[in-house]
Amino acid sequence: MIEIYNEILKDIEPSLEDRQNVIEFSNKLIKIIMDYSKSKNINIKCRLVGSMAKNTSLMGKSDIDIFMTFPLSYPEEELKSYGLEFGEYCIKKVGGTSEVRYASHPYTTGLIDGFEVDFVPCYQIKDSSELKSAVDRTILHTDYIQSHMTEEETRQVLLLKKFMTSINTYGANYKVSGFSGYLCELLILKYHSFDRIIEEAANNWHNRYEIDLEEYGTSNNFKDPLIVIDPTDKNRNVAAALSLQKFSEFIIACRNYLSDPKMEYFQNRKIHITREELITEFTKRGTKCYVLSFNVPELPDDVIYPQINKTMNSFIKVSEMYDFRIIENNYYINSDNEARIILEYDNDEVSNIKIHKGPQIKYKENGMNFKNKYSNAYIREDKWISVSERKYKNVPEMVDNIVKKENRSILKLGKNVKDEITGNYSLNTVFEVIDQENPEDYEELFMHIYPDYKLRR
Ligand code: CTP
Ligand code: MG
Repeated sequence: MIEIYNEILKDIEPSLEDRQNVIEFSNKLIKIIMDYSKSKNINIKCRLVGSMAKNTSLMGKSDIDIFMTFPLSYPEEELKSYGLEFGEYCIKKVGGTSEVRYASHPYTTGLIDGFEVDFVPCYQIKDSSELKSAVDRTILHTDYIQSHMTEEETRQVLLLKKFMTSINTYGANYKVSGFSGYLCELLILKYHSFDRIIEEAANNWHNRYEIDLEEYGTSNNFKDPLIVIDPTDKNRNVAAALSLQKFSEFIIACRNYLSDPKMEYFQNRKIHITREELITEFTKRGTKCYVLSFNVPELPDDVIYPQINKTMNSFIKVSEMYDFRIIENNYYINSDNEARIILEYDNDEVSNIKIHKGPQIKYKENGMNFKNKYSNAYIREDKWISVSERKYKNVPEMVDNIVKKENRSILKLGKNVKDEITGNYSLNTVFEVIDQENPEDYEELFMHIYPDYKLRR
């Protein structure tokens, strides 16, 4: 086993030279910012944090995280605007291209010499009691890992991150809702080796599993699938962003890997599927599968994805209200920046009539009211029954109506996609979508049918 791991590490562990290059490069950027801030009489510190500083970055994968720390005396507005200004100044000075992104506050990302560099302003804090914004913890995290992790353990982190990337459970962003880099590091501090984590997860992890490295005893405050108390902040669960879905997928992948430990678990697997195969697969299901499509505004993924998810859930709820049963659902954003919400129904048609159950006949007055309201009311055993015509008899009719501006209040749509949906949506069968879709997005349609494909190596 050790030999296989050494083999894998050859591909994912940055060389000493790579690491030195990053350090030199970031020192150059840090110096530019320090000189500039001094010239403006602003007293900040600047340092490399994140996986590059902890020696836990996968080769060619990770971004460079540079944090500018301001004394607590600076008001938040100044910190934000200086932060953006310094980041932009530095990127411009070295000839990169810059872009503003958002975490708990806006920051600048630069593309410089092929590196992606984040310039993030935060406060200089001694411990979590001084916390003013979520990113302030990052400095504490970097210090903690740097002072607690052995060199061998950093390599074990790389194996874990690679394994998780390949089964698609790595990343705390909303789209993945998986394990963050810091979470992987804490798991290694707990179990010391990649193999141990696999064994523990496969055999012992269950919902609400607790890990509390510093024994703060605060686990009971959380109700998440996995609870890993932040060693630098007893009131934070580092695994808060991990969904039950990804938690379970990781456990199953660990069990699969234990029973058949293949190299493929450390390789990215691209799914190759043709248009014809997709058509065959969806035909086999015999379902009525529709896809709602609309353009997505240019906003960060972590803003847009939750809105599409919310929109999808609302369509499911309203469909069921009108007796159209959904058996599976999904969503993705394709390479043309178009959202696709997959709504797969058992059946897309219902009869013309709907049966309502009324009051029991023993309630004389209620029965009378019911009879007055529905002229066709009749008795079935001890209850009043009425028959009315259904509002919608098939799925397209329902969708076309509920998305209209005057009717859409029945739906809970994401606020930045609302108008795009009502003004400019299209509803197609999955077969029509397969015909229009770019082959590079076929994987998303395939994953709707075989969601656990990446776990079955
Ligand atoms: N961070 C966090 N919680 C998150 C995301 C980030 O606490 N959900 C903090 C962590 O301290 C992390 C740092 O921000 O180390 C940088 O974030 P990121 O670049 O996402 O993670 P890395 O640890 O650098 O891992 P990667 O190799 O994926 O870049
Ligand atoms: Mg990083």
